[in-house]
Amino acid sequence: MKNNSINSYFNKLVLIAIMALISSHAMAQAPQASADKGKQAYVKNGCWGCHGFVGQGGIAGPKLAPETKPIEYFQAFVRYTNGPMPPYSEKILSNQDLTDIHAYLKSIPKGPDYKTLPLLN
Ligand code: HEC
Repeated sequence: MKNNSINSYFNKLVLIAIMALISSHAMAQAPQASADKGKQAYVKNGCWGCHGFVGQGGIAGPKLAPETKPIEYFQAFVRYTNGPMPPYSEKILSNQDLTDIHAYLKSIPKGPDYKTLPLLN
């Protein structure tokens, strides 16, 4: 009986330790994002060459901004795409840079609605 309760106490400790590990890992996976640094990383890693300087697309790749896809999609695509875009492994492009690039693209404002431009109406 005594042994059992020590065991269950130990199990709880192990569980707490595992949960702490997982959550610290999750935090490492979601670094603080900086749009400014993301802009630099976007240029440095050549994303602009296919997606345009403000993610407008139309060079060799589709537009990435405004209406940037969610970070989960973004990361999965950039890491594992096997289509016409070359995949970027973590060795080439860090998680921090990728998160920053996403923040940069998300920070790009939407252009004005053409209906509000007198010249176009
Ligand atoms: C050599 C040209 C090229 C470069 C460089 C490039 N891309 Fe792409 N990218 C593409 C093409 C082409 C597609 C569409 C591919 C497809 O649909 O399979 C694409 C698609 C994407 C998509 C998915 C868009 C969507 O709406 O589904 C994301 C996100 C993306 N690129 C991000 C990046 C980032 C970030 C970089 C820089 C680290 C980058 N790309 C560099 C050509 C490029």
